[in-house]
Amino acid sequence: MTMPQYNEAGVAEGLPQKARYAPGVRIFHWIVAVLVLAVWPLGMVISFIAEDHKTVFYVLHESFGFLVLWIMLARLALKLLRGTPDRELMPVWQERIADTVHGLLYAALIAMPIFGFLATNAFGFPLKLFGVLPIWSPVGKNDDLAVIFMTVHQTLGWTILVLFLLHIAGVLHHHVIRRDTTLYRMT
Ligand code: HEM
Repeated sequence: MTMPQYNEAGVAEGLPQKARYAPGVRIFHWIVAVLVLAVWPLGMVISFIAEDHKTVFYVLHESFGFLVLWIMLARLALKLLRGTPDRELMPVWQERIADTVHGLLYAALIAMPIFGFLATNAFGFPLKLFGVLPIWSPVGKNDDLAVIFMTVHQTLGWTILVLFLLHIAGVLHHHVIRRDTTLYRMT
């Protein structure tokens, strides 16, 4: 196990670089976390918003959601290039669960914006990023396809919630119960 040193504020310091993710991977992780924590509830509340104010919710949800796609792709490329740092010793079954949850989170957070984007286009509302930058639409208006894409988007929404809760459970298990350095790998 890699033991960190703690500064006066009780924050772990001096964790060897090889025990932490590459800086870019760590930055992208926290940007995606903030974006998803904003985009997910925005998507959930849109149907409850009064018509006069709906557009701004759509623009913010769709634009920030679209950014998640590109950041996730960049993050995945960087992770593949820079590799995964050595991790704490743990039972093989726990490693398998962690790898599965991480893999599914990557897949879901890439598929989610793609299906949202396709649905919006198929409903006949091509995306204009933050209301200014038109994004090329790969599908034309098609109501049947729109319903299919949106059903996948909604199903992925609940899947991401479950994966997120499992992810947080894993973080708490390492940080509060085992008190190991796992969380510091991503900070
Ligand atoms: C990681 C990125 C995204 C997340 C986490 C996300 C999440 C969600 C969630 C949780 C919902 C509510 C689903 C439900 O009603 O059960 C939703 C709805 C929706 N999303 Fe996304 N979304 C993302 C990206 C996108 C993108 C990129 C677009 C389009 C460019 C988009 C378009 C929509 C639309 C049109 C709705 C339906 C809103 C309504 O009319 O009720 N989403 N999204």
